[in-house]
Amino acid sequence: MKKNIINILSVIFITCFSINLFAKEINIYSHRQPFLINPFLEEFTNETGIKTNVIYSKKGLAQRLQSEGENSPADVILTVDIGRLYIYSDLDLLAQIKSDKLIKSIPFYLRSPDNYWFALSKRARVIAVNKDVIKDGEITRLEDLADPKWNGQICSRPGSHVYNRGIMASVLAEYGEVKAEEWAKGMVNNFARRPQGNDRAQIKSIYEGECNIAIINNYYYGKLKFSEDPEQRKWAEKVKLVFPNQAEGDRGAHVNISGGGVAKYSKNKAEAIKLLEFLTNEKAQQLYGEINFEYPVNVNISPSKELNSWGKFREDQVPIIKIAELAPLAQKIIDRVGW
Ligand SMILES: [Fe+2]
Repeated sequence: MKKNIINILSVIFITCFSINLFAKEINIYSHRQPFLINPFLEEFTNETGIKTNVIYSKKGLAQRLQSEGENSPADVILTVDIGRLYIYSDLDLLAQIKSDKLIKSIPFYLRSPDNYWFALSKRARVIAVNKDVIKDGEITRLEDLADPKWNGQICSRPGSHVYNRGIMASVLAEYGEVKAEEWAKGMVNNFARRPQGNDRAQIKSIYEGECNIAIINNYYYGKLKFSEDPEQRKWAEKVKLVFPNQAEGDRGAHVNISGGGVAKYSKNKAEAIKLLEFLTNEKAQQLYGEINFEYPVNVNISPSKELNSWGKFREDQVPIIKIAELAPLAQKIIDRVGW
């Protein structure tokens, strides 16, 4: 009995010791899927000797972190879309961190102004068009989608999805409420059907002839183009991508981010920062492109050949935090126009 208690105590002691003092292990709360982050994490462990444990969930991690409070084992948060990342800082779940490396490699408009969160990759929200129907130069701006000329030709996923809320917020940032709502109303009037499905489903609908125009995140095009399912590859063949708002003086295409931060009560902050820094280095930044067709955030690294072959583009440099701040108003507009 006495021996058992000693054994248990020593296990507890060793566990506490290894977590708190050696800190060679970090826990990641991730909204990013395992297939996507595991290759990065393997590299990270090889390079630094720091092991990683991932708790993956599509939903609910912020609530979990909040209820765990100071006892949370989380060190790093990884998620997609500023709308989701911002929730963590809004709930005060992130630590303010100091890293010259992150500040130097990530442009100011893609990180929190006070160093709580950082973009790790970019995704462009672009226009996919039926390449047999829509001629080059016919659609060059997001604003064009409100032109009655396209009546009955646009497919969309529901407006309240974060991706669409984000792009709505980008229009709001450019024009203010009245004009932004006019645009949204005009576009909704052009819809071929009630908004439904995800981004891939919109490309499928173009393939099936239900519509000719849709707004999608660029990487879905890549996922379909290189899909193991020949059917999906056919959907991709039917479309080309238009990077909107590229003319000189125009604002550029809206981009959103995947990003991360360090948990407020992390016991391994130095290692957690190391992971974020690792994710912005050259090798990892290229992996984002190779695995998921996302663009590098690191200003010193150029996108892959494949990504460049879809079109080089300029991005809207409105601070991404503004997109998060405008999201509630964007949602109101989306509701009002029935997107
Ligand atoms: Fe996505």
